[in-house]
Amino acid sequence: MSSVVLGVGGGIAAYKAADLLRKLTEAGHDVTVVPTAAALQFVGAPTWAALSHHAVAPDVWTSAEQVPHVRLGREADLVVVAPATADLLARAAHGLADDLLTNTLLTARCPVLFAPAMHTEMWEHPATAENVATLRRRGSVVLDPASGRLTGADTGKGRLPEPAEIAQVAELLLRRPTALPYDLEGRRVVVSAGGTREPLDPVRFLGNASTGLQGYAVAAVAAARGAEVTVVAANVGLPDPAGTEVVRVGSAHELQEAVEKAALDGDVVVMAAAVADFRPAALAPHKIKKRGAAPEPVALELNDDILVGLVARRRPGGLVVGFAAETGDDEHTVLDHGRAKLARKGCDLLVVNAVGGGLAFGSTDNAGVILGSDGSETEVERGPKSVLAAALWDAVASRLTSSGGGPAAPGR
Ligand code: CTP
Repeated sequence: MSSVVLGVGGGIAAYKAADLLRKLTEAGHDVTVVPTAAALQFVGAPTWAALSHHAVAPDVWTSAEQVPHVRLGREADLVVVAPATADLLARAAHGLADDLLTNTLLTARCPVLFAPAMHTEMWEHPATAENVATLRRRGSVVLDPASGRLTGADTGKGRLPEPAEIAQVAELLLRRPTALPYDLEGRRVVVSAGGTREPLDPVRFLGNASTGLQGYAVAAVAAARGAEVTVVAANVGLPDPAGTEVVRVGSAHELQEAVEKAALDGDVVVMAAAVADFRPAALAPHKIKKRGAAPEPVALELNDDILVGLVARRRPGGLVVGFAAETGDDEHTVLDHGRAKLARKGCDLLVVNAVGGGLAFGSTDNAGVILGSDGSETEVERGPKSVLAAALWDAVASRLTSSGGGPAAPGR
């Protein structure tokens, strides 16, 4: 059981922190909530106490004999601040210690995760931008806010990232405290996610079981590491990962157009989407009727291999990453198929994972082996999809820095 401090800032999104708290406790963590005085104006102490099973100490004077301003930070495995208001980010960046939460931030030696929420103007103000840059430079993880409806009728960047996404990042940091260095700043990355649908008639399609969870985890981790991320999402029913731009598509052809366009100025393309290899040769203009008999067999034609096309047009220094969902067969293992696919497709990295029997598709966990064109093989044990995503970005980042792009030196 990990020890987590959940700091809650004084913003309207404080109510969403109750959901985050639930997710953290349901994951088995021992969570102590430290709301600021302003946060208690939005959500009262009994809510935090009941959901966390701990008394809430709002200030440094309550239970002073336990020296809470030092103890909480020292004992924590992770401090999560959600919502992190502009004021709280400023106080943290400047090392102020005027309440229990900021004292805790100064004494914590564990990873610290800030999930900001504020109005767009406040997020974009140079003061906030500099405070965020300071915190990131010191090693804190500061997520970008999500875009969408704000407190009033206005919309824009400034919403609290979804509690499920904050919980996913928190879990990643608990498992791997160094998983989110801010090392992809200035990099443009494109991530395809989900599963394409090839229309057969106005109501039917050929599809697959991909939910987009792995691709979205890849995108979220890249954004948290500072990359400018475009997600090309094929039929994904999940909230947009915070700090990314999401382009929605349906078919393989639409996905191809969107990915190729975004890849024109991208440093890295990750093809996590499950792309249909075939599409019906003709789209029936009307719903195909059964008319008491099985219809004619459906003729199929081949879709382009988007990954192979991206490899052929790869920019100097650019990287192309594929995914391979495989089942073994009588003659070959999952890894045999993966190695052959890496050679056939010519990409720089290929993440191979086993599917079928409830593995991978729709599950929040995944396991895999990251194969490099240089012969490297990195195994990632079964765990949350964000852990596999972080291992993938480690492999990408080392190739981007070791050679300014392109394949890394042999021996890695
Ligand atoms: N892919 C692609 N375009 C396609 C099919 C697949 O870009 N038309 C990409 C996927 O996004 C993935 C990788 O290629 O990154 C491997 O996909 P997979 O379906 O495993 O490969 P296939 O070439 O279809 O191989 P198989 O014969 O095993 O189906």
